[in-house]
Amino acid sequence: MANVTFSSPLHKDKTVYAVAGSHKKTILELAKENHIPIDFSCGDGECGTCLVKVSSIDPASRNKYGHMGGPLNAREVTVLKGLGKISQAQIDQMYVDDLPPTEWRLACQYIVRDEDIVVAYPSR
Ligand code: FES
Repeated sequence: MANVTFSSPLHKDKTVYAVAGSHKKTILELAKENHIPIDFSCGDGECGTCLVKVSSIDPASRNKYGHMGGPLNAREVTVLKGLGKISQAQIDQMYVDDLPPTEWRLACQYIVRDEDIVVAYPSR
């Protein structure tokens, strides 16, 4: 079970519970199920509309960069680079460390793990 807290300056914070072990549900799917109004468009990691910031509630489970989740997938890399949210050096290091080097993520691509996280939106 993971607690996912959605935080926005425009809406009341809401914490929802993600079922442990599914490892298939994205932040965007979880948000939709729980009526969290995260903006999205393509739903396929191409437009960048669903940009969010993801951070850890539990410092013990942070990686060396202090960020959560698995490495960015190729679509996230392309979109985040295009938005200027990640540098080529960070991308290169990510492939060495196999860790996400930035808190910037795409809600439609980030698979929720068994980690307690805060998802800040909108992030533009
Ligand atoms: S909705 Fe387009 S990148 Fe996530």
